[in-house]
Amino acid sequence: MIFFVSGRLDIFAEKNIMEHEKSLLSISHDHFHIMMVAQIIKKDSAAANGFLKNLDEKVKYAVHFFDQELANHFYLEEHIFQPLTKGISEEIDELLEKMKAEHKNIELLVRSLKNKTDLENKLNLISSALENHIQLEERILFPKIKESLSEEELEALAAKLNDKGYENIYKN
Ligand SMILES: [Fe+2]
Ligand SMILES: [Fe+2]
Repeated sequence: MIFFVSGRLDIFAEKNIMEHEKSLLSISHDHFHIMMVAQIIKKDSAAANGFLKNLDEKVKYAVHFFDQELANHFYLEEHIFQPLTKGISEEIDELLEKMKAEHKNIELLVRSLKNKTDLENKLNLISSALENHIQLEERILFPKIKESLSEEELEALAAKLNDKGYENIYKN
């Protein structure tokens, strides 16, 4: 299925990706997919047209996406990525803690959809939380890690991420 989305995906438009940057690429591939979902569940989203007929379908789509894909992405970031990048600097450790707190917040927002009130606004909040979260990782955390490590250290991180079998959620 091809989604039409606009804006904000430009953060992934990097050219000449270095070898070591491929270590973060499978995570970024997930992020591209998460940003598309954020567009789809947004209020008055054109991206949902012809795909999700009504609010109820949008809610089911968001919950399904969280349970089947996003929860796994968060788990991998917290249990594979975080242990490998912890301790580089105090600033990065704080960003990793912020990352975890945002995961929890997004999970709570998704769970709040069980209560059937104010669903459109809740979906919109989840959409914004997802966009902000991906930007935290792509624009602040990942660049900070890249600039804090030497080429050799980045290569070692890449190898460890691969060893640990990081698999992106987006398999199609
Ligand atoms: Fe992420
Ligand atoms: Fe994350």
